[in-house]
Amino acid sequence: MKIIRAKDYAELSKKAANIMAAQIINKPDCVLGLATGSSPIGLYKELIKKYENGDISFSKVRTINLDEYRGITKDNDQSYYYFMNDNLFSHVDIKAENTNIPNGENPDAEAECARYDAVIESFGGADIQLLGIGHDGHIGFNEPSDHFEKGTNCIDLTQMTIEANARFFASIDDVPKQAYTMGCGSIMKAKTVLLVANGKAKADIIYKAACGEVTPQIPASILQMHPNAIFVCDDEALSVVAEKCPEMISEF
Ligand code: GLP
Repeated sequence: MKIIRAKDYAELSKKAANIMAAQIINKPDCVLGLATGSSPIGLYKELIKKYENGDISFSKVRTINLDEYRGITKDNDQSYYYFMNDNLFSHVDIKAENTNIPNGENPDAEAECARYDAVIESFGGADIQLLGIGHDGHIGFNEPSDHFEKGTNCIDLTQMTIEANARFFASIDDVPKQAYTMGCGSIMKAKTVLLVANGKAKADIIYKAACGEVTPQIPASILQMHPNAIFVCDDEALSVVAEKCPEMISEF
């Protein structure tokens, strides 16, 4: 695992966007695994700038998103479908048919998980998988558990996640209670994994994920076993790692 430090969110977003852009330049028809949440928004803004400057094109890029709330409609402004269009897809030259997100409108969980696994399989997994991290260590929506899920699954969100995500909804009662998420096995199959985290509230969980025991109770800890996992974090998110295992942090 490589941990790249950034002094703040703006620098984090630029460094992480450079890594994603390098992937697109190296392989214009690459498969990008994409993430939602507030952490990658700055990175998406940087990618849009690179597209506008003519440095990168998404015309051949294919995407697979990590997750989607179950029981949410695509036009709901809190759906991850809406988020991706709003924060990236509508600003670049990506073809809509090349983008993939679990269908939160499909009530048949078994069918939806099988469909999404087939999509991931048909692409041979992601070339680079972008991740944020939940306060409980979840990646995608893989919540703490007694095992790591391999494939796409329908998950009950923990109270901690519901509370964390309530800030985006009119009220906590509006937060969906379930989600479809790509499994940890599919995430681990990506050739590169790129996790972004910022802010003091993520410092403990970044330490546990990067330096603690590998356990499904901290789903992100599985990334310690990935041959090419890169964490790009700001100084605040790295404050506990810097104190307890500073040798993990590389300058970049
Ligand atoms: C949600 C998403 C995750 C994301 C997490 C953290 O639960 N499903 O993919 O990593 O939120 O979000 P934020 O980046 O806003 O802290």
